[in-house]
This record gives sequence, structure tokens and C-alpha cells, in this order.
Amino acid sequence: MEKKKQLYEGKAKKVYETDDPNLLIVSYKDDATAFNGLKKGTIAGKGVINNQMSNFLMKKLQEEAGVPTHFVEELNERETVVKRVSIVPLEVIVRNIAAGSFAKNYGAVEGTVFAEPTVEFSYKNDELGDPLLNDSHALALGLATKEELALIKTYALKVNDFLKAFWLERGVTIVDFKLEFGRQSDGTIILADEISPDTCRLWDTATGKKLDKDRFRRDLGGVEEAYEEVMGRLKS
Ligand code: TMP
Repeated sequence: MEKKKQLYEGKAKKVYETDDPNLLIVSYKDDATAFNGLKKGTIAGKGVINNQMSNFLMKKLQEEAGVPTHFVEELNERETVVKRVSIVPLEVIVRNIAAGSFAKNYGAVEGTVFAEPTVEFSYKNDELGDPLLNDSHALALGLATKEELALIKTYALKVNDFLKAFWLERGVTIVDFKLEFGRQSDGTIILADEISPDTCRLWDTATGKKLDKDRFRRDLGGVEEAYEEVMGRLKS
């Protein structure tokens, strides 16, 4: 499979058409941004790690957790064939522990463990700064149907159950993460985008050390090493 016309360049990935109208190739970059693009940088080797981690996890989610995904085939270190979808413009965030915007918005102490996971939606819209929104807002804006929202939440919680157990076995706590879903041409909803240290908070269970993009967002140093560490744990 070969890359044809570039369709889109995002902050962390490029997307290309292929000869097959139902398949695209994504190419992962080392570019990193935070705070809606305000902070820019490079994390050397990130594209390779995110590509390989996301593919590994999506394959398992598909085979072991019954969550359909866009993953088709890894072409090389940075490039993967995926099913073509139109992205549902929602960032679907699942949280197990208070951190990030949850801690900030609600005055919660970072590290507080929830009795039940939370699921929230943000409107995927850079101009508006990805504002939080609820189901009725999403319906009013025509972003998805009631049935789609329910299915997306069901899938998101299945992903959480799987990732929590998967990372626990590897000494890593999954604090929270962001998913994106897409619609195929027949309307079916599948998991798209990526699952990586860019889109998850991953803490070393024993030490609490942050092994994810928060090291870049908060200038904590050791960013590359953290991505390598957590990639090593993935395969352990
Ligand atoms: P938040 O606490 O900043 O809302 O982030 C929640 C989770 O979503 C965290 O694991 C990081 C991830 N995330 C993204 O993948 N993309 C984003 O643009 C933001 C803001 C967060």
C-alpha cells in the first residue's frame, strides 16, 4: 500500500489517501504541542513509539475487548494503514483519578481515586478551545445521535476496563485518557485516532512518576526517557 495525496496535517500526524477509497495511511510525527498549540516542541522518537503503542493496543482492543477500531496494518515504524472514517467531533475523556483539567476545574486534589470512572465530552474545535459539553449540547449541535453517544460511552468504558487491567499488570496506572471515534461510510462507529502517551496519563504505580506527555506540558524534563520507559513496559 502506498501513500497518495496528503489529505490533512494535524499537530502530531499526517494523513494520506491510498488507492483504496476506504483506507488511509497515517504518519506519526515527533512534533508535540500543548495548550491548543501555544506550546510547541519536538519529542525525539515519539512518532515511532506512538505509532507502535497505538497499534498494539488497538489490535488487542479489537481482539480481546470487542471494541472495533480503525487499525488495519502497520506499514513501518511511523506509518499505519487505517480505515477511513469521518471523525465525530468529540474528545471522549475517561478518568479514573483526578488530574489535569478535572483537578483544575473542580478544585480536586490531583491523585484522588474515583469510586467509578467518569466519562466526559469536549467539542473538538480548536478555535473554541475544545470546550466541555454534555450530551444534550452534543445533540443540539448535531455532533452525534443519542444512540451514537450511548455507544461511544459504552466503548469508552470498555477501553478503560481493558487499559486499566493491561497497564496494572505492567506496573503502570492509567489515570485518564482521551479517545476519538469515527463513522465509516455505512455509519458504523469505530475507535479512531491514537492511544499513546500523548493521549493518556500514565503513572508508574510504585513511584507515581509521570510517564506521559505531562512531562512536556509541565516542563518536567526526561520526556524522551519517559516515552521509552513506558514503551518498554508495554511489551514487558
Ligand atoms: P485534561 O485533564 O487536560 O482534560 O486531559 C485529559 C486527558 O486527555 C489526558 O490524558 C490528556 C488527554 N488530552 C489529549 O489527548 N488531548 C488534548 O488536547 C487534551 C487537552 C488532553
